[in-house]
Amino acid sequence: MSKMKKDFSQYFQAPDLREAKKRGKEEVQVLQFESLPDEMKNIGVGHKYLIQTFGCQMNVHDSETMAGIFEMMGYTPTIDERDADIILLNTCAIRENAEDKVFGELGRLKHLKLEKPNLILGVCGCMSQEESVVNRILKSYQNVDLVFGTHNIHRLPHLVHNALMSKEMVIEVWSKEGDVVENMPKVRADGLRAWVNIMYGCDKFCTYCIVPYTRGKERSRRPEDVLNEIRELARKGYQEVTLLGQNVNAYGKDLEDLNYLFGDLMDDVRKIGIPRIRFTTSHPRDFDDHLVEVLGKGGNLVEHIHLPVQSGSSEVLKLMARKYDRERYLDLVRKIKETVPNVVLTTDIIVGFPGETDEQFEDTISLVKEVEFDSAFTFIYSPREGTPAAKMQDDIPMEVKKARLQRLNETLNEIGRRKNEELRGHVVEVLVEGESKKNADVLSGRTRTNKLVNFAGPKSLIGKMVMVRIEDPKTWSLTGVLLEDPKQQKAPVA
Ligand code: SAH
Ligand code: SF4
Ligand code: F3S
Repeated sequence: MSKMKKDFSQYFQAPDLREAKKRGKEEVQVLQFESLPDEMKNIGVGHKYLIQTFGCQMNVHDSETMAGIFEMMGYTPTIDERDADIILLNTCAIRENAEDKVFGELGRLKHLKLEKPNLILGVCGCMSQEESVVNRILKSYQNVDLVFGTHNIHRLPHLVHNALMSKEMVIEVWSKEGDVVENMPKVRADGLRAWVNIMYGCDKFCTYCIVPYTRGKERSRRPEDVLNEIRELARKGYQEVTLLGQNVNAYGKDLEDLNYLFGDLMDDVRKIGIPRIRFTTSHPRDFDDHLVEVLGKGGNLVEHIHLPVQSGSSEVLKLMARKYDRERYLDLVRKIKETVPNVVLTTDIIVGFPGETDEQFEDTISLVKEVEFDSAFTFIYSPREGTPAAKMQDDIPMEVKKARLQRLNETLNEIGRRKNEELRGHVVEVLVEGESKKNADVLSGRTRTNKLVNFAGPKSLIGKMVMVRIEDPKTWSLTGVLLEDPKQQKAPVA
């Protein structure tokens, strides 16, 4: 803990490529989350917590862990901020607009804090790992009571305790390379689909990306810990598990006493009785032949792979330090398509990277057409302080970046619509998630390939696997009819 006026520089560090790349090979410690000391067990009794989550699935799952810790302390959840005694913003630093949203929220919450002086307002997640953000909070957001980083989640009980005792801002952001903490409590958002971390951190250091600085070095959980967690979820009736890591394909590389990689893990997960297993995110560089072969076995390993390409130009990929070129990416795609029947590929793409020429952007368009991604997340490049790309000249005018993004999205939408059209008349397996957001009489769920399907049916089907015939494919979703006849239910799955 640190008080505001103290020197807090020991508690956090700015992202520093040179320092970060010196990451040692020393053992990652596997810590066990300890039960709470008596004085912290009842801190939250009669009080409510609210966590607002920004960013990727990693943050979504971290929020589930923090919810678990709050509930151990006696807190109960609320979705109404006026009712909350503690509000945490679990933040994302990936692009400038992600950060702007959080500062906007902090500004807004100032007023709530004036009305409720006892409210504890905390900032955690990736933004807290940045020195410039912590300084900005100290300077302009004095209403914040607590700032802690991505390596400090297991310390939440102590941090809340300190924040309640202290009149000054409590800051704890460890810049260490990171440990693995097992046995953390979790409150999972639903009883159907679960996230499971298989590794933490990232050592890829793509030149535009802040994640290797905010999340520490690559470190894998022990296979038995991952497998036991998934077995437990199977016992509880979960239908879908998504294995999480910034670069899941690097799984196991750091476990020096074992010869056990991501393909081996998937082969073992395949034998567990969970109907659907997904994983995210895959870096093409570490996607080895064994993994492709295991995915080809199908079963509960779904035929959807999210494989971020970032650019279709080998020159841009080189500047991004992605460590593969266009040809290698296309080779991998060819291999995957040959081995995994009916595979759906999705991707992430950045436009307007420093120096990207019209011609290089056209390479991205042609790659998208060649691969035929079903969908993609597309982004305008955003310089992140402390990363190598931030020192390159951000020389593409915003109008050009926007025009490229629009053209790219139009190309992707056209392909996506065409791919969905191919499903017209096909029968697909749908895991029913709930009522459609737009119409309570309609149910919605997802195919194995993660496509959204809407159809009319009784609410009793929520949480079940059903077969649906697609009758009206659209760009973003598919509308279909439920097959009631159990014989038809066994029809081939698209
Ligand atoms: N680990 C994942 C990516 C996590 S970040 C992977 O490597 O695939 C999600 C996406 O955000 C990235 O794939 C990239 O497309 C985008 N992104 C990351 N840094 C960015 C930046 N500085 N500007 C714009 N987009 C960025
Ligand atoms: Fe960022 Fe690259 Fe790591 Fe993905 S692989 S988190 S884009 S550095
Ligand atoms: Fe954002 Fe951190 Fe995820 S920067 S994308 S929340 S790892």
